Amino acid sequence: MRYSPNASLVGFPGSAKRITTPALMVDYAKLKANIAQMTERCREVGLALRPHGKTHKCTRLAELQIASGAVGVCAATGREGIAFARAGLTGILITAPVVQYTQIDELVRLHAEGADISIVIDHPEVARRWEKALAGSTRPLPALVDVDIGMNRTGALTPEAALEIATLLKNSALLKYSGVQAYSGRVQHINDFAERRKAYGVQLDRLKTVLEKLRANGLAPEIVSGGGTGTFAIDAVAGIFTESQAGSYVFMDVEYAAVQLFPAMTNPWQHSLFLRASVVSANVPGQVTVNAGIKSFATDGPAPTIYGDTAPGMLYEFYGDEYGRLILDPDTVPPVLGSTADLFTSHCDPTINLHDWLHIVEGDTLVDIWEIDARGVLGS
Ligand SMILES: Cc1ncc(COP(=O)(O)O)c(C=O)c1O
Repeated sequence: MRYSPNASLVGFPGSAKRITTPALMVDYAKLKANIAQMTERCREVGLALRPHGKTHKCTRLAELQIASGAVGVCAATGREGIAFARAGLTGILITAPVVQYTQIDELVRLHAEGADISIVIDHPEVARRWEKALAGSTRPLPALVDVDIGMNRTGALTPEAALEIATLLKNSALLKYSGVQAYSGRVQHINDFAERRKAYGVQLDRLKTVLEKLRANGLAPEIVSGGGTGTFAIDAVAGIFTESQAGSYVFMDVEYAAVQLFPAMTNPWQHSLFLRASVVSANVPGQVTVNAGIKSFATDGPAPTIYGDTAPGMLYEFYGDEYGRLILDPDTVPPVLGSTADLFTSHCDPTINLHDWLHIVEGDTLVDIWEIDARGVLGS
């Protein structure tokens, strides 16, 4: 395990205030509430939950989700799947087709050792690569047909293409046909619920056509996996999926704060993730400089926003690799040199990938530090 500069602070009352910054922090109570809330919602509507591990890349957090009732965890890439399998996680579904031989070989090796991994296939050539690597295996590797319902990233494009792959899997002695995956990313962040439901509805109709074709050919899928936090409320009542892959609900971020997740209620998931920064210079009137810039936050979304009462009413601006600045509100007392400022992350998934540690806090106390152990493992 790598060394955390904050390791010596764990367990001491008030220790979260003395933390070395910039530091990614997790409000433990809110995290646990988010996990419990999602488990309960899935239970109510009869959906299994296989949360996406790409959000947190952290085995400890995935273990918490599984202990609370999740059937496993999704991995975004072959290498993320390898990291989770090596860490002993179960119910791992790698949600991207893995095409690189080195990753296929390693995953086959882990499968032979008993790892609980499923894969997705979106082209006969991908299936061939896996079958080649699995030659001689006595335990078929579960595989889902990845279906493109409108995102045009991966997935079989037509019902006929999906049927061809499902048939290939059904007839394979080395791969086990286990169902279908259909995920659509872009619609997740359509802010207005009705607009999102409309755009996604067209895509779900495509999925229904694929499922009908498979059923008509004796290939009814056991698992239909997909969905994210943005479409959860739609997936929960659509009656199409058997499981949800939602991920961001555990943390939430500035992007998702703008999305109306449910039609007639406020968003049930709270921001549990934030970044603690320190004021490192306060010489310029109207602003203070903090020690968190574009090496601390993903920059693909909106700017981070201020959290808590450390710097109310102020606006964060990126101000270099290692720096940001807080534009002061004339009506509030400016934060002093050396004080901390807490910020919600713009887009949680890529922000996580910039950090080594999640600092778990209860009130003012740092209660634990979890390694972001699948950080930096990319590519399928
Ligand atoms: C395949 C897949 N499933 C599920 C998710 C989780 O979506 P969200 O973070 O919106 O909950 C993602 C996120 O990118 C994804 O790529």
